Amino acid sequence: MPDILSRVMAHDRWRLEECLNLQPSENVTSPQVRNILSSDLGHRYTLPFDQVLHGVYVENAYRGTKYLDDIEREGERLACDVFGSRFASLKPLSGHVSALMMLTACCEKGDEILTIRPEHGGYDGYWEGYMPKMLGLEVSALPFVEERWNLDHEKAAEQITQRKPKLVVVGASFFLFPYQLKVLRDACDDAGSLLGYDASHVLGLIAGGEFQRPLDDGVDIVCGSTHKSFFGPQGGVILTNREDLCSSVKEILFWTVMDNAHWNRVSALAQAMLEMKEFGSDYAKQVISNSKTLAKALDDGGFPMKFGDSGYTDCHQMQVDTEAVRENMGFTPHEYSCKLEESNIIVDSMGRTGTNEMTRMGADEGTMEEISDIFIRTLKDEDTKPDVKKLRSSLKLKYIFEE
Ligand SMILES: Cc1ncc(COP(=O)(O)O)c(C=O)c1O
Repeated sequence: MPDILSRVMAHDRWRLEECLNLQPSENVTSPQVRNILSSDLGHRYTLPFDQVLHGVYVENAYRGTKYLDDIEREGERLACDVFGSRFASLKPLSGHVSALMMLTACCEKGDEILTIRPEHGGYDGYWEGYMPKMLGLEVSALPFVEERWNLDHEKAAEQITQRKPKLVVVGASFFLFPYQLKVLRDACDDAGSLLGYDASHVLGLIAGGEFQRPLDDGVDIVCGSTHKSFFGPQGGVILTNREDLCSSVKEILFWTVMDNAHWNRVSALAQAMLEMKEFGSDYAKQVISNSKTLAKALDDGGFPMKFGDSGYTDCHQMQVDTEAVRENMGFTPHEYSCKLEESNIIVDSMGRTGTNEMTRMGADEGTMEEISDIFIRTLKDEDTKPDVKKLRSSLKLKYIFEE
C-alpha cells in the first residue's frame, strides 16, 4: 500500500526542523492555527443567509453551523480592525481567487485594466492570456523605472488620466518599495477609474502598520494571499471601504468564483488575524529590519544583491543580482538554489529571497548575519549542513500566544 503519512511526516521533519526557508512566498503558522486547520470545521459546509436556492428562499441552507457563523463574523470584524477597513471577507480560497474577485467586482467584459507587467515583477495572472483573457478585459502596462524598481508615478498618472481605464491594479510578485498611492488616487479620480491593490506579498507588513496603508491612501479595493508575509493559512482576503464594491463582492462570492469557503481555513485565518492584531507591529518591523540586514550582509559577503543605493528593500523581499552572481560566482539562479538546497537552505530560483518565515521563527538581525555567513560558505563548497541544523534548532516560533 502506498504510504502517504510517513512521507508527510518526513517532509514536516525536514522543512520544519532542518531547513532555513528564505522564500518570500511562504510562512509558518502558529500551533493554534495548525490545530484549527485539522479540526472538524474542515468537514463542514455553510451557505450565506438570505439565499434563493433552486428557486426557493432559504435562510441558511445548512444546519449545525452556529459556531462556524460566529467565527466567520468575528474573523471579519478582526480583519476590519487589523486593516482599518469597513468590509472584509476571509472567504477567497487563495490570493489568485481574491484577485479574480477584485477583477470581477470592478470590471465588465471589454473594460481596460492597467497593471505592472510581469517583466517588472507584476503577477502573471493579471497579464494577457490569464485572468484578463478569461474575463474579456484589455490589459496595458503601467510605466516602470527598473533602476528604482518602482512605478514611474508621474507618467502613470498621465497614462491613467489619458486612457481612463476601468481599474488600475498595483502590487506585485517581485515587490520591494511602496507606491505613491496618493498620486495614483488623484489620477484615478480625474479619470473615473478604480484603484486596486494586490497585497499578496506585503499583507503581513500592512497588517503590522508598516510598508504602506493602501486603504488610508485611497485605494478602493485590496486583495491578497494570507500566507506570504501574513502568517496565516494558505488562502485569500478581500478588503474595501466602499459599500458598492462590498455588495459586488458579496454578489460574486457564491457560484461565480467559488462555493464552499473551507471553514477550517477561514477559522484558522481568524485566529491568525488575532495574532496579527496582537503581535503584527513588532513582527512587521522585525521583518523589514531583517531584510535590510540580510541583503547588506549577502552583498558585502560576495553574493551580489540589487538596489543597495535604495537600502535594498522596504519589505520582506530582496532581489539577487543574478547577472553579477553568474559573473562573480559562476552560478545561474537554478544552480545556486539547488546547491543551497543540498545544505537545507531554501530559496527560489527566480532571484528573490525573503525573511518573513525566518522572522516568524524568531530570527533577528544577528541571525541574519549568521544566515548570510552560512549561505556564502555553502556556495564556496563548505559542508554547512550541520551549521544550518544548529541554527535552525536554536530558533523558536515567535509572535504567538503561549498555549
Ligand atoms: C502578487 C500576487 N498576486 C496573487 C498571487 C496568487 O496568490 P496565491 O498563490 O495565494 O493564489 C501571487 C502568488 O504568488 C502573487 O505574487
